[in-house]
Amino acid sequence: MPTVLITGGHGGIGLGCSKYLASTYRANLVLAGRSLERVRPVADELSAAHDVNVSVLELDTSSMASVRSAATRCRAMLADGEIESLDAIVCNAGVRLNGPVSYNADGYESTFCHELFRSFPVGGATAGLCRRARPSRVHGQRHA
Ligand SMILES: NC(=O)c1ccc[n+]([C@@H]2O[C@H](COP(=O)([O-])OP(=O)(O)OC[C@H]3O[C@@H](n4cnc5c(N)ncnc54)[C@H](OP(=O)(O)O)[C@@H]3O)[C@@H](O)[C@H]2O)c1
Repeated sequence: MPTVLITGGHGGIGLGCSKYLASTYRANLVLAGRSLERVRPVADELSAAHDVNVSVLELDTSSMASVRSAATRCRAMLADGEIESLDAIVCNAGVRLNGPVSYNADGYESTFCHELFRSFPVGGATAGLCRRARPSRVHGQRHA
């Protein structure tokens, strides 16, 4: 079965995508989110409902340090067999275009950072981990 990493796969559109991947393709999932307290219960529910393996990964897509640390953790998950492969990455997590202005830990305005940079650091840091033996995908979700 393929393994798909999805950022923000525990809520909103991302959760819909996680359910679809698990139910339709029986894909194992890695749910990446900034709060494991919010991610873990959803991971457990998805795993029980669809009989797939669902791992959790701490990742704040607005922080380069967090992206690098998540990529390192991902490598360890592959090395120790927690996940068998990494076949696709869905860069879903983001922020809405409304609401108050906020800045991430690197000093970038959050929406700017998400909309312009999020797919590239996450995809770039983890794409090399995707299985090379068969086609793999990195998908970015963004406003038109
Ligand atoms: N909804 C729409 O109409 C619409 C239209 C076009 C495009 N989109 C795009 O589709 C994507 C999902 O939209 P949505 O409406 O489902 O958003 P949402 O309901 O706000 O869900 C976003 C998910 O991403 C997580 N997340 C937010 N910031 C994060 C961060 N810095 N690091 C890691 N995870 C983070 C959230 O988890 P926590 O808050 O628990 O951390 C949540 O699970 C976004 O990229 C959005 O720009 C949405």
